Amino acid sequence: MSFSADWLALRTPFDAAARDVGLERHLAAWAAARTAETGQPLAVIDLGAGSGNNYRHLAPRLGVMQHWTLLDSDRGLLRLAPDRVDTQLCNLAAGPEAAIPDGVDLVTASALIDLVSEPWLAALLARAEAVGAALFVVLSYDGRIAWETEHAADARVVELVNRHQRGDKGFGPALGPTAGDALRRLSDRPVLEARSDWLIGSGDTAMRAALVEGWRSAAAEIAPDESSALNAWAEAARLRAETVVVGHVDQLILQ
Ligand SMILES: C[S@@+](CC[C@H](N)C(=O)[O-])C[C@H]1O[C@@H](n2cnc3c(N)ncnc32)[C@H](O)[C@@H]1O
Repeated sequence: MSFSADWLALRTPFDAAARDVGLERHLAAWAAARTAETGQPLAVIDLGAGSGNNYRHLAPRLGVMQHWTLLDSDRGLLRLAPDRVDTQLCNLAAGPEAAIPDGVDLVTASALIDLVSEPWLAALLARAEAVGAALFVVLSYDGRIAWETEHAADARVVELVNRHQRGDKGFGPALGPTAGDALRRLSDRPVLEARSDWLIGSGDTAMRAALVEGWRSAAAEIAPDESSALNAWAEAARLRAETVVVGHVDQLILQ
């Protein structure tokens, strides 16, 4: 599945505002202890890294020497990553094992695990455990799209969007909104977690327009016979003078 650089740039400030600071502090404390123990820079793998937004946000908050490798199947996005990181073109659908070598301290992924299947996520947990790496998975969509005042068609749109989210994104049937629940259920270790919801205000016109169009088109793919109603919903949604909350979750598993 491909994602445009423009879309990743558009969502960046909303991601940054949504990400949970408490979990980042837990991770930074763990990273300080890990690097004190190893005497080496923290070795970090970023799965589905795109243009490097997870690196840009997280690296300055970890407070230790780090070495990052960014993995993605999109060469064009990886080219936009900062020079100081390593990049690796790779199709993660082949499984997470080969992507995570021995000696990795931290595996992270931003806005990725809702695209993967349950067996893939189980393999990720197993591989992180096998190499002794912490896992920090952020901004997983959790199925909530909540407007301040509910309109008649909102629930139907969310239902269709969430069905679309479960479709195959290259990894088998996607976990979509159930990704966070699945990670918690599949992990043998305690999962620290917090909500990281996007808050899209009525003035955030570009982000709102992109989201509404994305939701309309996803819903229409699932229910083409409802296209006219969905078009009418989208036209009205773009003009709604209210905040919409898009639910996400951040999760951290320490070793
Ligand atoms: C929603 S974007 C998130 C990008 C980045 N983590 C961020 O937060 O800005 C999902 C990323 O997963 C990558 N991706 C999707 N399928 C992939 C696959 N099979 N192998 C490697 N990367 C993949 C996409 O190219 C894209 O960069």
